[in-house]
Amino acid sequence: MKKFPLKKAFTFIEPGPVTMITTFDGKKNNIMTISWNMVMDFTPQFAILTGPWNHSYKALVKTKECVISIPSVAISQKVIKIGACSGKDTDKFKKFNLTPLKAKYVKASLIKESLANIECRVADHIKKHNIFVLDGIAAWFNDKIKEKRMFHAAGDGTFTVDGRRINHKKLMINKLPDGV
Ligand SMILES: Cc1cc2nc3c(=O)[nH]c(=O)nc-3n(C[C@H](O)[C@H](O)[C@H](O)COP(=O)(O)O)c2cc1C
Repeated sequence: MKKFPLKKAFTFIEPGPVTMITTFDGKKNNIMTISWNMVMDFTPQFAILTGPWNHSYKALVKTKECVISIPSVAISQKVIKIGACSGKDTDKFKKFNLTPLKAKYVKASLIKESLANIECRVADHIKKHNIFVLDGIAAWFNDKIKEKRMFHAAGDGTFTVDGRRINHKKLMINKLPDGV
């Protein structure tokens, strides 16, 4: 994993891809799948939605840290299966043959097989709406992965895959943060 400019990390989440969230509860690594996510600020700040019905929730509340891991479509089936079982009774890194890598600032692991990983600290937890607000503190990119297309959930079990990218930077230059 190569260090990726933190100020550009929001560009992985802005398109609304299916992501994974890794946590470490003090004993075990875990992974869950999250498609309810959004960018809240370029700083970067993100929101994810999850609650006490998931095993990851306890670790998020306790440790106040996690990694947002952004997979490419190459591992979409694994990512969906990760969202269909629980860390309560399953070691998902082992079961899905994914490699945990040590993060720099948080105890949750990066996922080697993902396109990108963003280390995050929980900035806020809006219990009423099951929203965690996350501050991104470091970003990593795996340039060895050839398949770079992300995938996106429709919510009914179907998914779309990134298509052609068009460049309209000139039309919104006054809305783009410096260096993006
Ligand atoms: C494509 C997909 C998207 C999902 N998105 C979310 C989400 O945004 N929020 C959420 O709480 N659960 C979501 N889930 C469900 C969790 O990933 C699932 O409950 C998982 O088993 C939780 O793992 P854990 O118990 O180890 O934390 C999603 C599942 C799939 C397959």
